[in-house]
Amino acid sequence: MIYLDNGATSFPKPRGMITEMEDCILHYCGNPGRSGHDMSMKTGEAVYRARKNVAGLLGIDDPSRLIFTKNTTESLNMALQGFLQEGDHVVTTSMEHNSVYRPLKKLEERGVSHTIVKGDRQGHIAAPAIEKAITASTHLLVITGASNVTGTIMPLDEIGEIAERHHIPLLVDGAQCAGSLPLNVSRSKISMLAFPGHKGLLGPLGTGGLYVAPEIELAPLLYGGTGTQSKSREQPCEFPEGFEAGTINAPALIGLGYSAGFIRKVGVEAISFYERELIRQFDEALKNMDFVQVYGPPAEEKTGITLFNIRDMECEEVTARLNREYGIAVRGGYHCSGFAHLTVGTWETGAVRLSVGPFNTRREIRRAAEAVWKIGKVR
Ligand code: ALA
Repeated sequence: MIYLDNGATSFPKPRGMITEMEDCILHYCGNPGRSGHDMSMKTGEAVYRARKNVAGLLGIDDPSRLIFTKNTTESLNMALQGFLQEGDHVVTTSMEHNSVYRPLKKLEERGVSHTIVKGDRQGHIAAPAIEKAITASTHLLVITGASNVTGTIMPLDEIGEIAERHHIPLLVDGAQCAGSLPLNVSRSKISMLAFPGHKGLLGPLGTGGLYVAPEIELAPLLYGGTGTQSKSREQPCEFPEGFEAGTINAPALIGLGYSAGFIRKVGVEAISFYERELIRQFDEALKNMDFVQVYGPPAEEKTGITLFNIRDMECEEVTARLNREYGIAVRGGYHCSGFAHLTVGTWETGAVRLSVGPFNTRREIRRAAEAVWKIGKVR
């Protein structure tokens, strides 16, 4: 199979990640932070190393401010539900994933309102438009680092400046950029960063994280055992354990730590450059097909994603034929982000999304382009 659905989850994973997880499960996996015996301690130390590795990759100075979760959705829910209160207003954009819109919709019941700033046809969000939407009760800015539909890269540094100037925290959804674009919470003045472990960070599914800056006051999403202050009925508020109630998926997080280290060795800049080169190659090939419509910005303004349709063909048919006839995995439809499709003009049709990862090759991209050509031309 030629796997070009890295926007959904990355595949394959670094070989060493599997070895690391296997070693943990086979030889020492105790419950970290719960007991004083060697196995529990060793697992706790390995999870700490993983936290440090991921933090280092994202420019997080204090690893304890990094909460491990099971995915970006959980991280975003933790940030939105744990930070916002009645009367608060939020500014967000029309390029977000449902993991932002749905919690915000639910929060309306608790008296939290929001404004959605519309992007242009390529999915760009203008930073001044974000600033214009700020009101006296705005308490949070929420924006994706890069769209999961078009790959459009957002002006995080500029929005971070606005956030700082207005003393409003900035929450970034890093689902499509952690590990694939250089991301630094200090540089971009990000107060909270939600991210997946299983996409650009090349870790196992079921892993993710939320960075929370020291000045942010957050209520936990889950209450329960933390391995600390066991005689108290109150939830401890210490980071990170107060926000990681229940037993964590230690082997998976240790695997994630390995993958983060792997990315640090290779370099995010190198990965980003390579993925965008692959996408440039694919987009160039599509330019020669007059029956293909490509949406979103040019390669230099996006991550490793291309969104397209073949004229007069349903996107579901194209993805099914790529899978069945050519062994090529891509994702069609609406990608859990209806508003982004509305923004770029594919609300009625949905579209095919091809998304690359660091292990894809130029040959695979050539084969994918040939397959699109054959499906579109020969009918
Ligand atoms: N949110 C993931 C995607 O964009 C699953 O495909």
